[in-house]
Amino acid sequence: MTRRVYLAPSLLSANFTRLADDVRRMEEGGADFLHVDVMDGHFVPNITIGPPVVQALKSVTELPLDCHLMISDPDRYVEAFAEAGAAWITVHVEAAIHLHRTVQLIRSLGVHPGVALNPATSLSAIEEILPDVDMVLLMSVEPGFGGQSFIPSLFRRARTVRRMLDDAGNGTCLIEADGGIKLENVREVYEAGVDVIVSGSGVFGTPDPVNTLRRMRELCS
Ligand code: DX5
Ligand code: ZN
Repeated sequence: MTRRVYLAPSLLSANFTRLADDVRRMEEGGADFLHVDVMDGHFVPNITIGPPVVQALKSVTELPLDCHLMISDPDRYVEAFAEAGAAWITVHVEAAIHLHRTVQLIRSLGVHPGVALNPATSLSAIEEILPDVDMVLLMSVEPGFGGQSFIPSLFRRARTVRRMLDDAGNGTCLIEADGGIKLENVREVYEAGVDVIVSGSGVFGTPDPVNTLRRMRELCS
């Protein structure tokens, strides 16, 4: 049986002066989600984009916007991202002090809640929240920048999260992997049980991003 794969190109590596063009190219390549990396210069050492850009993206695409909040105290901004048009909001377990409340807040706004973990964070940190989330995002690089090297513990971690989700009775939760995924390793990531593939430089850093995205889907089916 083949499992459905969702391709979520990360706009962090897109051309910020021509975002709508790159969005169109990702639509053409068959993207399922657009991955939007939000960084605050505090939780991670980089600053990217905020709700106004999400709102602008929403006006040019029907694709679900998968907003990955790499920010401290995410409760402060969840509502703004929901209003801007996020379909998914994922917060870091390392940044959300009252994670259960944050997840409930996201859901109450009609948005799919997700929880993200840095590569060195113990999976036990999400055990209690698994019944309540729609996505678990496993970082395969330290968050903050595109173009870093893939950390292979992702394979083992994805398999373990799948077992934990089964034990928690949450069979519909998606597992997303983010960081260092390219044509060369995408199949192995998918085979470890990952449902949602994020790729930034692995798509936009190639000569033909549309074709690269199509190739990624072929490799995962
Ligand atoms: C990293 C971001 C990623 C990043 C991935 O902090 O969360 O989504 O854009 O970029 P690549 O695919 O280049 O590693
Ligand atoms: Zn991301």
